[in-house]
Amino acid sequence: MKLFKHINETIDYRKLLKLKKFSLGFVPTMGALHEGHLTLVRRAKAENQSVAVSIFVNPIQFNKASDLHNYPRTLENDLEMLSGILEPGDFVFAPDAEEMYSVEETKSYDFGDLEKVMEGAHRPGHFNGVGIVVDKLFRIIEPTSAYFGEKDFQQLAIIRELTKIESHPVKIVPCQIIREPDGLAMSSRNKRLLPADRKHADHLYTSLLLAKQEISLGKSPDEISTQLTKQLNAISNFRVEYITFATEEGLVEITRPCNLRVRCFIAVFAGEVRLIDNLPMF
Ligand code: PAJ
Repeated sequence: MKLFKHINETIDYRKLLKLKKFSLGFVPTMGALHEGHLTLVRRAKAENQSVAVSIFVNPIQFNKASDLHNYPRTLENDLEMLSGILEPGDFVFAPDAEEMYSVEETKSYDFGDLEKVMEGAHRPGHFNGVGIVVDKLFRIIEPTSAYFGEKDFQQLAIIRELTKIESHPVKIVPCQIIREPDGLAMSSRNKRLLPADRKHADHLYTSLLLAKQEISLGKSPDEISTQLTKQLNAISNFRVEYITFATEEGLVEITRPCNLRVRCFIAVFAGEVRLIDNLPMF
């Protein structure tokens, strides 16, 4: 696989792939790769003639300086992991912040109601930062398909909207959440959990499974949220930020039973580490 740190060399190589009329599957990441990321890369590999992976810790999508500072950076190890999947024609784009943001960004996206709930409501500016960087990456890499995990389900909805706003000719491919054996959704942030918090972190997934069971018994989303919030807050060091039931289409919050495709979304602080997860309720 090739490694590019600069935009110009990446654009030049992309031109070459275009001449060959190769399909290009793209997996944008912030590195600290784990099996969740690698599953996206393998899928991109299986479905395309060439694959691009970006590794870039995007400063403008972090709304807390400490979170940006503490984000794990493991480029050597990431490249080693990717070299087991990618072939000579594939490439990794790993720019630094100056390369991506040579001038200050002032763009402001309107993602409508999609950004007013859950992550959008709790992390001001986050999705604008995600939108700006993914738009830039799409312009540089010009993928034919791009792979995103349902772990960040709201991000996936935002990216679909971004693709419409910017008229990017790319197919957005959603990929299932990959979990640890105890059910904890894989995340680069899991590495930062204290041992005791890691031990209890499986409760996010068991809460989601319980929510699904209770929904199937006709209990109201509101009641379930209250009950699960109480249970999770009772774990030492855990603090629920939100437990929200929302439609897959449009992410409309629901409080009463309905027969639409609904997911339960959860965000919890385990000590300093913020964890998110979600599960379909149908
Ligand atoms: P990052 O958190 O590194 O995630 C990169 C991609 O991997 C995202 O599409 C995310 O949903 C997916 N992913 C992470 N953990 C997963 C899991 N356990 N199962 C399935 N997919 C998983 O998301 C970002 O980076 C950034 O916001 C980015 C899109 C790169 C823009 O900076």
